[in-house]
Order: sequence, then C-alpha cells, then structure tokens
Amino acid sequence: MKSHLARVITIERFILDQEELHPEATGELSNLLYDIALAAKIINSHVRMAGLADIIGSAGLINVQGEVVQKLDEFADATMQHALLRTGRVCLIGSEEDPDPIPTPPGQAAGKYVVLYDPLDGSSNIDVNVSIGTIFAVHKRLSPDGGPGVLSDCLQKGRDLVAAGYVIYGSSTMMVYTTGQGVHGFTYDPSIGEFLLSHPSITTPPQGRYYSVNESNFPRWEARVQGLVKCYKGLDCGFQPKNSRYIGSLVADFHRNLIAGGVFCYPADTKSPRGKLRLLYECAPLAMICEHAGGAATDGRQPILDVAPTELHQRSPLFIGSRDDVLLAQEMLAEPA
Ligand code: AHG
Ligand code: MN
Ligand code: MN
Repeated sequence: MKSHLARVITIERFILDQEELHPEATGELSNLLYDIALAAKIINSHVRMAGLADIIGSAGLINVQGEVVQKLDEFADATMQHALLRTGRVCLIGSEEDPDPIPTPPGQAAGKYVVLYDPLDGSSNIDVNVSIGTIFAVHKRLSPDGGPGVLSDCLQKGRDLVAAGYVIYGSSTMMVYTTGQGVHGFTYDPSIGEFLLSHPSITTPPQGRYYSVNESNFPRWEARVQGLVKCYKGLDCGFQPKNSRYIGSLVADFHRNLIAGGVFCYPADTKSPRGKLRLLYECAPLAMICEHAGGAATDGRQPILDVAPTELHQRSPLFIGSRDDVLLAQEMLAEPA
C-alpha cells in the first residue's frame, strides 16, 4: 500500500540537510538555529500556559522603550539569553528588552555570531489571547574573533544578515526562517515536541488580498501616506480594493500577509516621527524573509535591508509584503512632499 504520508522532517534534520549543501559550512550556524528552536519550544510552553501560570499582566517594570514589560516578555528574553550566551556560538546579543547589547559572560568562549531579537512581539495582546511572536536576526561579528562582541557588531545592514526568522504562537506554533536559501516554515507538534517541516520554500503572492495598518493613526500621517492607504482601499487610484486586517502583533500580521499575500504598513507619524517599529530586530529580519519569499520591504525611501543602522533600538517606518503593493508605496512616498 502506497503511504499517503509525506516524509516527516524535523527542523533539526532540515537544518542539517541544508548544511550538507554547503561543504564549507562548519555547522556553527546550524547549531545556533537549533539553540533558537529550543528557546522557541520553551517560550511556547509558557505562552500556552499564560492564562494559567499567573504570568499574565505586567511585571510592573518599564523597558528601554518606555513600555510596561509583561512577565512573558521577561521570560522570553531570559530564555533567549540562556539558550544563546553560553553556547560559544555568539559573542553578543541585542534584545528589545535590554538597553545595551549583552556580551558573552567573562570566562565564556565567544563565538562568531551576533543575535538580535524581539523576545515577545505583540505584548499588548498577551492578556487577550491573541497571537504573539518572537523575531530574531543573525549577523556575523565584525570585531576580531576571541573576546566578547561590541555594539558595532550589531549595527550592520539587514542586507548582511546570515539568517533571520520568527516564531508565531498562534492557532498553532510555527517557526519560519531563512539563511538565504529560501524561506521555510515548521509547525510545532506538541505530542512529540518537534517542529516539523510544513511550509517548504514559501513564496508570497506578488499582489496581496490584505492591507494592514492602524487606521487610528490616519490623522497623524503625512498626505502621501494617507493617499497610499486610500489606494489600498481602492479609492482614488482605480486599484482593486484590499481587505483590511490588523491584529496588532507584527509577527501575526506579517505571517498572514506572507502566506496569503498582503502589505503591512507602520508609517512614521507626528507622534512617532521615525516610526514605531525597531529596525534591527523587527523590520530587518522580516525584510530578509520577505525578500527571499519574493516580496519587498521599504521605509518609504529605500529598501529596509539597505538602511545603515546607527543605534541598537532605532525605529523605522515599515511597508512590507507583496512586491507590487510595496512598490506602489515606494512610488507614492518617493513623490515630492
Ligand atoms: P512589541 O510588543 O514587541 O513592543 O511590538 C508591538 C508592535 C508590533 O507587534 C505591532 O505591529 C505594533 O506594535 C502595534 O502597534 P500599535 O498598537 O500602535 O498599532
Ligand atoms: Mn515587537
Ligand atoms: Mn517585544
């Protein structure tokens, strides 16, 4: 009898298979991706208990962003630090939850990678059981091998990322990543504690069904942005109107658009003149994934991946998703104000 089952491939097996395509690979990046997958499984187990384990609600702390830190943010941050800092594979990590980069501890071997991450994206949705996520970006260090890394190791263009990915804790938990060889999605099977390949070689439709933006900011946008969003609505431009979907968790809005086609916008506005989202661990990793899936990402002036960072927590406007929808944004926003 022919088995109807497709081959079951765990993320670990897939990463190894991918590594075998590159004889020069040392296996360090593979092991780093395992480390991140392990952290994702641990965070997932706590996200799934969030309503039960009394880690709901704020820890009463304020992070460098001036936002109330939810306990799950803290837990996710600590989990990523524990999964990365003592492996000998990283020399520095940068987290949304910590004002400065965190170097490998004294006496700990420092590796050649830098990991930048948003440990818990969509914090405002934790208490209302809406999808949240984790986003990560991996660079190779620029500073000399040996000791702990330095801030400049973090301040690299997204174009130079060696890997990027996210975990979405949604109706199912998925990990999606790229090392530049396609974008691949893995769905978590809690019965065996494994991420299984479920979405090989993800490509995003060139035009999307959805546009995602926080419409309440409309009065604070400049006129060109207001005009662009009207176009997405099918007003004034003769374009096919798109459906509006806005979850308020970047990872969830991005993932839906990646799979179904769509464009996500978080423009600059009078309240957030450089935008709200953070370049290094939100915009750039998702831009790498999007471009490798056939989409695009811009800050309105240039591709996100070409922006040269100057600060760890710098913010950026973001228009990301289906290629044609993002190119429309670039055309309309490049016009003289
Ligand atoms: P974080 O929880 O990591 O701070 O990220 C929240 C971000 C992002 O997930 C989402 O797209 C955006 O905030 C929503 O912002 P608004 O509530 O202003 O729309
Ligand atoms: Mn975030
Ligand atoms: Mn966050």
